[in-house]
Amino acid sequence: MTPRERFLAAARGESVDYTPVWFMRQAGRYLPEYRELHVKYSVLDICKMPELSKEVTLMPVKELGVDSAIMFADIMLPLEGMGVKFHIIENLGPVILSKVREVSAAEELKKFEAKRDVPFVLEGIKIVKEELMETDTALIGFSGGPFTIASYLVEGQASRDYSNTKNLMYNDRETWHAMMTKLSAMVSDYLSAQIEAGVDAVQLFDSWIGTLSILDYSEFVAPYTKEIFSRLAHDYPDVPKIHFGTNIFHLLKSMKENAGGDVFSIDWRIPISTAGRVLGKEIPIQGNLEPAVLLARDREFISRRTQEVLDQASGLNGHIFNLGHGVMRETPVENAKYVVDYVHSHTS
Ligand code: CP3
Repeated sequence: MTPRERFLAAARGESVDYTPVWFMRQAGRYLPEYRELHVKYSVLDICKMPELSKEVTLMPVKELGVDSAIMFADIMLPLEGMGVKFHIIENLGPVILSKVREVSAAEELKKFEAKRDVPFVLEGIKIVKEELMETDTALIGFSGGPFTIASYLVEGQASRDYSNTKNLMYNDRETWHAMMTKLSAMVSDYLSAQIEAGVDAVQLFDSWIGTLSILDYSEFVAPYTKEIFSRLAHDYPDVPKIHFGTNIFHLLKSMKENAGGDVFSIDWRIPISTAGRVLGKEIPIQGNLEPAVLLARDREFISRRTQEVLDQASGLNGHIFNLGHGVMRETPVENAKYVVDYVHSHTS
């Protein structure tokens, strides 16, 4: 199988020659080549220049031999076109200058149009696809999830307790609904445009939904996420859709039943086998090595932890090996490569 065939088969719960692997944030600051480029260009600069985002997207394919590339971009990128003003600050993340705290701000969010607002992403996908032809490596497109984007818009930046977001959600349903409706329309348009441009699969990063109770997730978020997945399932039934969050064990059942996705991507806090019992073994799972394991100096320890993930996933119909969240900045590249090789050679 080629890497793309292997990745797609696992995402569809079909048999594979060996387990496919890629890492969230595999194109990032732990790569010396990326750091070198980043001296001259900001994250947003790179995202907006297709030749540069192509180069960065391909770095881990060459360095690590992963089965899938993921387009280099940020979840905030599509929001500029909606009229949101923000910066990206190193080690903190997005900082929003035009926060959404009342209904007028939600109503002012402009309708997103992919060709007008993110032409560089669509162009990037086309030229990355060309480069990936030779090895037939898969390409994943992505978007932030509606809650995760909303939390940045309301809080203005990363948050520990999401008090402003929850305050708005409970006390001002009109604003919440207006904002979430516009964000979910943007997300499905954005993912559709990436599929049309040529990505093989899409991932919805609703990274911060784990802060919500089951009841709040089901009432305030899942209906919007469901809109997104239903539309994509209708328009692109054959393109795998991966649904990701952290701290989501309590939400998995609701995510599956009330929101959707073909593959669920889980963090390291629970074994894959435990998630598999909740989701049912017919649902493919992506994950879930603790990212910090790649900081270990002892290869025997890394092997042991990697093997444990493979063992936990052995009862599933589909497994895409990944970390539970993004690659950490301090990660030695050799350790990331070691795990890719380990997964390939120990699952054939
Ligand atoms: O890894 C890197 O350093 C690359 C450059 C970079 C990106 N975003 C690209 C990106 C940087 C410095 C950012 C800023 C940013 N944006 C941060 C802080 C990062 C830090 O620690 O300095 C955060 C938290 C965001 C918001 C954001 N972007 C979220 C919540 C997500 C979803 C994934 C997650 O980590 O939960 C993103 C996606 C994102 N930003 C990707 C990339 C290349 C996407 C996909 C991937 O490669 O997995």
